[in-house]
Amino acid sequence: MKGVSLLCSCVIAPALAQIFDTLQVVRDLPDAVAVNAGNYVSCANAAWPPSDVGFELIPQAPDDDLKAALAEIDTSRIEAIISKLVSFGTRHTLSTQNSTTHGIGAARDWIAAEMRKYAEASEGQMTVTVPSYIQSVANRISFPVKISNIVATLKGSTDPDRVYIVSGHYDSRVTDIMDYTSDAPGANDDASGVAVSLELARIMATRRPKASIAFVAVAGEEQGLYGAANLAQRYRNASVNIEGMITNDIIGSSRGEHNISDPYTIRLFAQGPPLTESTALAASRLSIGGENDSPARQLARFMAEVASNNATGMNIAVIYRLDRFLRGGDHSAFLQQGYAGIRYSEPNENFDHQHQDVRVENGIQYGDLAEFVDYEYVTRVAKVNLVGLWSIANAPGKVKNLTVTTTTLGNDSELKWLASDSEDLEGYELVWRATTAPMWSHSVLIGNVSSVTVPLSKDNVILGIRSVGKNGYKSPAVYPGPSPFPE
Ligand SMILES: *[C@@H]1O[C@H](CO)[C@@H](O)[C@H](O)[C@H]1NC(C)=O
Ligand SMILES: *[C@@H]1O[C@H](CO)[C@@H](O)[C@H](O)[C@H]1NC(C)=O
Ligand SMILES: *[C@@H]1O[C@H](CO)[C@@H](O)[C@H](O)[C@H]1NC(C)=O
Ligand SMILES: *[C@@H]1O[C@H](CO)[C@@H](O)[C@H](O)[C@H]1NC(C)=O
Ligand SMILES: *[C@@H]1O[C@H](CO)[C@@H](O)[C@H](O)[C@H]1NC(C)=O
Ligand SMILES: *[C@@H]1O[C@H](CO)[C@@H](O)[C@H](O)[C@H]1NC(C)=O
Ligand SMILES: *[C@@H]1O[C@H](CO)[C@@H](O)[C@H](O)[C@H]1NC(C)=O
Ligand SMILES: [Zn+2]
Repeated sequence: MKGVSLLCSCVIAPALAQIFDTLQVVRDLPDAVAVNAGNYVSCANAAWPPSDVGFELIPQAPDDDLKAALAEIDTSRIEAIISKLVSFGTRHTLSTQNSTTHGIGAARDWIAAEMRKYAEASEGQMTVTVPSYIQSVANRISFPVKISNIVATLKGSTDPDRVYIVSGHYDSRVTDIMDYTSDAPGANDDASGVAVSLELARIMATRRPKASIAFVAVAGEEQGLYGAANLAQRYRNASVNIEGMITNDIIGSSRGEHNISDPYTIRLFAQGPPLTESTALAASRLSIGGENDSPARQLARFMAEVASNNATGMNIAVIYRLDRFLRGGDHSAFLQQGYAGIRYSEPNENFDHQHQDVRVENGIQYGDLAEFVDYEYVTRVAKVNLVGLWSIANAPGKVKNLTVTTTTLGNDSELKWLASDSEDLEGYELVWRATTAPMWSHSVLIGNVSSVTVPLSKDNVILGIRSVGKNGYKSPAVYPGPSPFPE
């Protein structure tokens, strides 16, 4: 069976029945598992049906338009943005908002002005808002303070109601979280992340992705994710369909403690079971699996697939975890509202340069200073973000209301979903992997249908469906439950 093409690679959708028949005729039983064979125990039943259905999944590659956009990312601009943010002295959330040169208010106004400058080139497609609110006294907030986020939204050309978010936080801190006057340069944490939002806004302002993208800088992160929590709640209250949120937080250097450096890797933290899942759906995951197939994990798999390549020069180390120990990030605020949020962070952190008063002690320089930022590294992380956002915003939306049929026992698997009438949609693709595999390993193009039966046992593999655009772009996969998991 190996090496026999079930599908012509040039045709997207032969009738599925035909694939099914071909399989039954040609295959020898039982056959070896095509990928991750070592992950299957030597139980014959676990290798049935033979799992060479479809082809080994070939990662989506960047096209020429994307490569042209990538070439516009400018390391010197990234450096200038980070230097400018550092120049405000402190960007502590409680710092002054009255000065035009010092404190978080000045930083806010500068970021908003930059975004508005970029938006001018968008012919009305990018709009900049600064949604604010007064945070009353609370944990780590000692007096009522205005918290402002800067949001530059680029309207999608064909699917504007589907939104992706890329965010960094512009507030900073020193050792004492309540100290709002000492210099807190926050060059890495998180001027680096804000620089990605700004530089990508500039480059995308003149382009027309199919879905909308919001380029965001939030405040209040260090005090307790206040800015992101307010923004996520606003989106939820307005029923905005956010199909993915990315925070870039501490992406400024690959050089960690003990001078370890891994300049071509970025970590991507992705939560498992959704934080907001209903008891019934959580019970469903417990009973049939899916703990590794939440929307956040699928988003991370998507990003790793499209952006780990020589267009970015980066490896994406997906980490199956909400965040690092003892730490948090703005993606959590979006997960709390039921949105798929993920976090990029550098591979090796140096804690001498995070959340520290700027000082020299025993010959060691402490503090989050610009001199410790590697601008070439930030540039590569910006490329990872651009490839991911471009690829996802030009793909069709994720499939909706996907289920796996569980009414009868059987060796085959039937999946069903809602048909989409999107003009951009070419059809769908089934993806699958061994239950022990981290990433999708196989794919089968199945055309413009709204159900499929494949000779693969849902008991033995993990199945997913993704949308395929007429432009060839593919959405993140969705994992089927007996009833639909919210996406
Ligand atoms: C900023 O100005 C307001 C009045 O506009 C004043 O109440 C406040 O104390 C000032 N804050 C700082 C930190 O200077
Ligand atoms: C969202 O809606 C809830 C319920 O109406 C409300 O309490 C909350 O203040 C709203 N949040 C924002 C940020 O508008
Ligand atoms: C860290 O390693 C780099 C080379 O990777 C070297 O240039 C630098 O001097 C080292 N720094 C320290 C403090 O050892
Ligand atoms: C980049 O990767 C693609 C796909 O694997 C390959 O065809 C191409 O030759 C590579 N380019 C470079 C410069 O390595
Ligand atoms: C799709 O699923 C949503 C819940 O995720 C539900 O509200 C809606 O009724 C479903 N639509 C159909 C047509 O089944
Ligand atoms: C599943 O496959 C096994 C092995 O070929 C076969 O004996 C069994 O009848 C099949 N079960 C169903 C429900 O098709
Ligand atoms: C795909 O199928 C749906 C539902 O049958 C239909 O509305 C849509 O127009 C089809 N799209 C294409 C590209 O054929
Ligand atoms: Zn941070």
